Amino acid sequence: MENPARITIVVCDDEASTRQLACAALAGGNYSIIEAVDGNEAVELARSVRPDLMVIDMMMPGRNGLDVVAELRTDPEFADMPAILLTAHDAISHRDAAADAGADRFMTKPFSPLKLASVVDGLIRKRLATQNKRLRELDRLKDEFIALVSHELRTPLTSIGGYLELILEEEVGELTTQQRRFIEVIERNAQRLLRLVGDLLLVAQIEASGLGLERSVVDLAKLAAEAVETARPRADKKGIDLSLVCEEEPALACDPARLAQALDNLISNAVKFTPEGGHVEVRVSCRQGRAAIEIEDTGIGISPVERDAIFAPFFRASNAVEREIQGTGLGLVITKAIVLAHRGEIHVESEEGIGTTVRVELPLEHKDGNGASPAAGGAA
Ligand SMILES: Nc1ncnc2c1ncn2[C@@H]1O[C@H](COP(=O)(O)OP(=O)(O)O)[C@@H](O)[C@H]1O
Ligand SMILES: [Mg+2]
Repeated sequence: MENPARITIVVCDDEASTRQLACAALAGGNYSIIEAVDGNEAVELARSVRPDLMVIDMMMPGRNGLDVVAELRTDPEFADMPAILLTAHDAISHRDAAADAGADRFMTKPFSPLKLASVVDGLIRKRLATQNKRLRELDRLKDEFIALVSHELRTPLTSIGGYLELILEEEVGELTTQQRRFIEVIERNAQRLLRLVGDLLLVAQIEASGLGLERSVVDLAKLAAEAVETARPRADKKGIDLSLVCEEEPALACDPARLAQALDNLISNAVKFTPEGGHVEVRVSCRQGRAAIEIEDTGIGISPVERDAIFAPFFRASNAVEREIQGTGLGLVITKAIVLAHRGEIHVESEEGIGTTVRVELPLEHKDGNGASPAAGGAA
């Protein structure tokens, strides 16, 4: 199929001249038109291409138009597909039969090509409007479902975490080395679930009502240093050289907790997607009223065809999936939403097998509104 998003119409008539006239009538509509020469072919085509509309001759040898429509209507997938029946006889009995079979319209041959085009156009418009409404409703239900489930999961998980903490603190008795090891595994996984639930809730919130910010002025270099230290244990474990270079210490009016979350996501990605012994460098700089944070890694990279998709919810690049690197594909959705809420930009440069650089730019907003930043330099 050349373009799967295009509206597809099946035109079925055993007479070539009628098929050609119908195709010519619909040629201006930017539809993908497929011709069928008899009822059997029409049913087969319908089942394989799932057309948006069918124009079918009523009287054909073998399986006629009424049989085709009646048969397709038994399949719920075709319950709403508009069907136009063509016939040479404008008899009341034919109209009744067409309606009984489930046809939406009945047109007598010879038909006016303009009339056919306008009927098709009207039915397609109606179908698209109904489909859009249904999709919007499904989207809303999906958001509601995610928010509800995440919420219901968070309460028991928080309780599990609390009791595990008490056990690990040996508040209820001493632990053997093995018990401690096992309970630490449980605790790590409970934390992971809690993070996932938090991410799901946040994504649902972003989609439903956007991200609210609680702003205060913070030193971006300090924020970056904290994020680097958060990632340090994992980097050390993989023998990754993780460094921070701060040319300046931009004072930024931002939501520090959210921005920290964005930096944690980006730095943890860099560490996660970089093989052992690699390098990750975080750089903070500022220029022309904008602060920039760059996170550069020598990791697995992202192929050009997948580069734009990495900001979509749940998307994970094929090389990440192949290597079984854990993740949910929500980190970048959240990160991008945080950057955009700060009126910033996020760009990714990457070469597969060489590495990735993510660049976040944020406008520096001061209370005096002059956009300048104090440049002290050299902090790490
Ligand atoms: N630094 C990186 N190097 C290579 N691939 C990356 C990098 N950052 C993100 N990606 C790709 O983008 C996908 C989405 O990232 P993200 O939303 O953080 O999800 P997750 O980390 O849970 O997989 C990742 O699964 C990975 O395929
Ligand atoms: Mg991630």
